[in-house]
Amino acid sequence: MSQERKYEGYVGVFDSGVGGISVLKELVRELPHENFVFFGDSANAPYGEKTPSQVRALSQAIVECMLDQGCKAIVIACNTATSAAAQMLREEYPDVPIVGVEPALKPAVLAPKHDHVLVMATPITVRLDKYRHLLARWDRDSNVISVPCTGLAARIEKGHLDEPDLIELLEWLVGDYRGKVDSVVLGCTHYPFIKPQIHKVLGDDVPFFDGGAGTARQTRRLLQEKNILNASDAPGDVVLSTSKDTPEERALYQWFFRRDIEG
Ligand code: DGL
Repeated sequence: MSQERKYEGYVGVFDSGVGGISVLKELVRELPHENFVFFGDSANAPYGEKTPSQVRALSQAIVECMLDQGCKAIVIACNTATSAAAQMLREEYPDVPIVGVEPALKPAVLAPKHDHVLVMATPITVRLDKYRHLLARWDRDSNVISVPCTGLAARIEKGHLDEPDLIELLEWLVGDYRGKVDSVVLGCTHYPFIKPQIHKVLGDDVPFFDGGAGTARQTRRLLQEKNILNASDAPGDVVLSTSKDTPEERALYQWFFRRDIEG
């Protein structure tokens, strides 16, 4: 991204890569008149297998750039970056609304069938304190099984979601839980794009929970509170950008943005 203030008044949304587009879609649905600039750091993905300090440094550089370009608020559309960097970013930019995303464990545990809840997330997310605290709060009535899904976000980054190797990877990561869980928490923003594939491995009847819609509602609340909702009635602008700036990657981002996220 260049340094001119070309995104004055936009909401900046970022992720390690294409996954955050699942959150961006919820944001556009919830806030159709806002202008959004999305940045996916695909050149450095996956974040979930880096160290927390690497993720903090990458997140900090992205947010600094978005604010230099005029963004009025930031959405961290990444569970991993939220776990590693949200607190630091909020301390560093106390006047900027910064919204994060976290695994939707609470709605899964409060759902009618919740004896066995499977949480799929990146290795960093399940390891860090933020998730440990969430677990301590919500795992009392449910057996929560947390699975670090090494390699899964990186595989989704490649697209071609109908290829058999993706199903094989899912079989290896979570296949043992088929018929043994009541619901699945998608604790990484890449995973909503592969709901049909996860259903294929775990069975069609397991409901999914993810944090995208809640993050969009929280963004609306914060913008309202600060009185900085976009006043226009026109549909907002949505810009997709990536650190892996090739024509193929730009086309892949558009493909993910246009893709319907099923059930
Ligand atoms: N989409 C991200 C998340 O929600 C990160 C995936 C990755 O880069 O490992 O955690």
